[in-house]
Amino acid sequence: AIGPGATLPIVNDNIAPDGFPRPATLAGDTFPGPVIAGTKGDEFSINVIDLLGDPSMDLGTSIHWHGIFQKTTNFVDGAAFVTQCPLVPTESFLYNFNALDQAGTFWYHSHFRAQYCDGLRGPFIIYDPEDPQQYLYDVDDDWYHYLSVNSPPIPMFSSVLINGKGRYPGGPSEPPLAVVNVQQGTRYRFRLVSISCDPSFTFSIDGHQMTVIEVEGNNVQPLLIDSLVIFAGQRYSVVINADQPVANYWIRAIGQSGIITTNFSDYNSLAIFHYQGADDGLPPVDPTVNIPVSQLPLVETNLHPLTPSSVPGQPVPGGADININLEPTINAARTAFLINGVSFVSPTVPVLLQILSGARNASDLLPAGSIYGLGANKSVELTIPGGAIGGPHPVHLHGHAFYVVRSAGNSSYNFVDPVLRDVVTIGSAGDNVTIRFFTDNPGPWFFHCHIDWHLNAGFAVVFAEDVPDVPSQDITDDAWYNLCPTFDSFFNST
Ligand code: C2O
Repeated sequence: AIGPGATLPIVNDNIAPDGFPRPATLAGDTFPGPVIAGTKGDEFSINVIDLLGDPSMDLGTSIHWHGIFQKTTNFVDGAAFVTQCPLVPTESFLYNFNALDQAGTFWYHSHFRAQYCDGLRGPFIIYDPEDPQQYLYDVDDDWYHYLSVNSPPIPMFSSVLINGKGRYPGGPSEPPLAVVNVQQGTRYRFRLVSISCDPSFTFSIDGHQMTVIEVEGNNVQPLLIDSLVIFAGQRYSVVINADQPVANYWIRAIGQSGIITTNFSDYNSLAIFHYQGADDGLPPVDPTVNIPVSQLPLVETNLHPLTPSSVPGQPVPGGADININLEPTINAARTAFLINGVSFVSPTVPVLLQILSGARNASDLLPAGSIYGLGANKSVELTIPGGAIGGPHPVHLHGHAFYVVRSAGNSSYNFVDPVLRDVVTIGSAGDNVTIRFFTDNPGPWFFHCHIDWHLNAGFAVVFAEDVPDVPSQDITDDAWYNLCPTFDSFFNST
């Protein structure tokens, strides 16, 4: 792990984590990027340097600290064309922020075009020395669990990577599977981070249940489950008790996107849960037969905050100060997504810089039709119907966690003790996922589908929150262009 004062060089390299070689864009020249870890209250000061040079890939970059609210520091949110211009080669940018009282499991990734799909993503952990749930586990050090996919050819996914390892079915080589080492009698806190570009994963470990204790930086009442579905961008901390006989067990993560679902043949979608003292081989069961059936899948409505907090607004549907429907659709050619009829197209001047240059009303901000103004200190309800465009789509809000008052698969609301998180699936036809948050964080904040191809195809809006109080920043600084560079001359256009 690297600490809060890290330098993060962004480079091109060739990688073959699943045995299938491809060029990649990487943080710190590893895939996934290095774990960035700190302690609650730390000041983070991360210097990102663009050292990209492969002309067949995007040469610009910007890094988003997914899940960090950036209160008073909207200008380091890292969303290209929303809060900053992307860096150009040789340029560096200091992301300086304090996560205040946030702690838990986050991640970082490129927020320029679909660049994170090319590899630029890694975990970001903030430890809480006074974690109220510490009594539930013995070890929380470097047992992170990253779920990801490789994508040859883009944008279809073919193999599931766990901790950066996996096998491309029928690929040119058979690289080792990830091994997670445990000691019998010890309880582990595992941090599951889906750094996926697209698919969701159904995660389980043969012979072991798990207890969910954290959802995306929010502690939850302990919930015992035996499998969970995790969507792109989501995170969970689960406690697993290594209380089974010393042996090797399969860790399973079935990937699912559209009509594609991985299976366990060719050792795809698998890793090894290895007890100290067991042999170094594979688990004794054939992973393609005797697949355990989940009795206790994670159900989102069973997740409740550890400490009660109140949902902003009145406890009735449409009872917030501001109630907005966001209806996603797709164009006839299936090349662009739209929200309320408008496909998001990046402006040439980042939204934040438009505000700092004097624009005061959402209606003056570009891109027209994609900016929603929100006044200060208001409760906001967003309702997003699923289904019209296939699904499920995981939507993410920058700058806030939100209460999921109506989850996918439910017609009823929970205004009393719903889960707080920052990525939620909008489900499928008939679903109307509804979320609530409070506008206490001035700045332009992106809201988008976390399937990176979909964001890139316009599945996004920007909330211009409390514009008069947006924290200022010296826009004459070198790192701040009023007009972003002409990308055709700098960047590949794919
Ligand atoms: Cu994890 Cu806007 O992103």
